[in-house]
Amino acid sequence: MATVLEPTSFAPPKVRQTQLLIGGKWRDAVSGKTFATVNPATEEVIAEVAEGDAADIDLAAKAARAAFESGPWAKMDARDRGKLMTKLANLIEDNFDELAALESLDNGKPICDARAADLPLTIDCLHYYAGWADKIHGQTIPIRGDYFCYTRREPLGVCGQIIPWNFPMLMAAWKWGPALAAGCTVIMKPAEQTPLTCLRMGELAMEAGFPPGVINVVPGYGPTAGAALVKHPGVDKIAFTGEHRTAQIIMADAAQTLKRLTFELGGKSPNIVFADADLDAAIAGAEFGLFFNQGQCCCAGSRLFVEESVHDEFVDKMVERANTRVLGNPFDSKTTQGPQVDRAQFDKILSYIEKGKEQGAACVTGGNRYGDKGYFIEPTIFTGVTDDMAIATDEIFGPVMNILKFKDFNEVVERSNRTNFGLAAAVWTRDVSKAHRIANSVRAGTVWVNCYDVFDAAAPFGGFKMSGIGRELGEAALANYTELKTVTMSLA
Ligand code: NAI
Ligand code: MG
Repeated sequence: MATVLEPTSFAPPKVRQTQLLIGGKWRDAVSGKTFATVNPATEEVIAEVAEGDAADIDLAAKAARAAFESGPWAKMDARDRGKLMTKLANLIEDNFDELAALESLDNGKPICDARAADLPLTIDCLHYYAGWADKIHGQTIPIRGDYFCYTRREPLGVCGQIIPWNFPMLMAAWKWGPALAAGCTVIMKPAEQTPLTCLRMGELAMEAGFPPGVINVVPGYGPTAGAALVKHPGVDKIAFTGEHRTAQIIMADAAQTLKRLTFELGGKSPNIVFADADLDAAIAGAEFGLFFNQGQCCCAGSRLFVEESVHDEFVDKMVERANTRVLGNPFDSKTTQGPQVDRAQFDKILSYIEKGKEQGAACVTGGNRYGDKGYFIEPTIFTGVTDDMAIATDEIFGPVMNILKFKDFNEVVERSNRTNFGLAAAVWTRDVSKAHRIANSVRAGTVWVNCYDVFDAAAPFGGFKMSGIGRELGEAALANYTELKTVTMSLA
């Protein structure tokens, strides 16, 4: 097969869709309001997008309810739902270049990352759940007496889905996949920072032939559009990914209507390097586990524990490696690190860097803004970090690596678990039993051994403790979108 060389720089895409998708129609917000979405690499406005709020959410809830209860979706055979999802996955693939460029433009991530990760994972996720649509089974249950007892897994209903800006398309696919496979209808509220690819996915869903009202997309702000979705009595469930503080507000707001809730929240994930590890592999994994996506990953390995005897060597090599990262225009194929998503994130990260310095950690590389335009931050590494420092306890969500030294196994397990989060963890060692003992002892939803950030649509993902409720991906996520019904029939 001939090698296809990637161009060294990519063209910015055309923005095609900026309205709300409600009931299969594109429309302006009821209020007529719009908001700007900004290119974080240049701080320039890309487009004005319709700003949904409570009135638009109400229209979307009615459209999603109608589609759920009557019309083609409600009557559609499960296998045909799967076929529509496959069509959507194929249309995303057909528009791969455009969507990768749009994601890079709106979010700031290097286009090569969008092409290598976001797009393939999005397509894979939709294919994976397309295959589940006709495989959601009940059971027959041998109860006492002359009865026939069985269960059915029925679609949950109208699902509100609120997603963040770090992987806009992928988060949409994680949410649409299991919901559509189960036969639900969805109202998606993309993040205000990155609405464009989700709107384009909505357009492709219409092209694929999803009936009106099955997929609705309502961009807007959290406290207005998001909160209206959470409080709406016609919405059965909220699936949310974002900050744990936002989840606390959502949980309180959802109490009135007792909505089903699933949360995928942040973390402060330990990445543990033992002295017997392949150090070069651990360094490469630590770089990827922290700096990938500008550090804007819920599962970032943001507490890097390194065993004392290899600590100094590890730090030297890690700094060297971090300094090879290439910051700049996300549309340039040489770029490995783009800007942070917006001014608020940029300011938050810089303030944590200041706190790290104030609290006595040593900033051994980076620590500053990069350039004078766009929200770029230098790859930053702190050493001498102790467990109680703000940089070691709080989710920074930026390119800030914290290296903590440890002496022995029990100590590192105890310190790893000394957090309210529990999303992910990783361990680097050549000792198989040590790896298993870490995997069993760390209180986290995902543990990677000698690797980091390995995701697959089939492997469940989610958090222990304050990192979440429920699991996304895999068969596990179907439970978030189904109600279990027990039917008992007398045979007498
Ligand atoms: P956020 O949690 O406020 O936003 C995520 C989504 O929730 C957005 O769509 C937003 O509009 C919506 N939202 C906000 N307030 C809402 C409300 N009251 N009701 C309903 N929906 C609401 O996160 P934000 O402000 O963008 O980032 C703050 C911090 O959160 C980051 O610095 C990072 O630490 C963390 N974060 C974690 C993510 C993860 O994947 N776990 C993703 C994004 C942010
Ligand atoms: Mg917020």
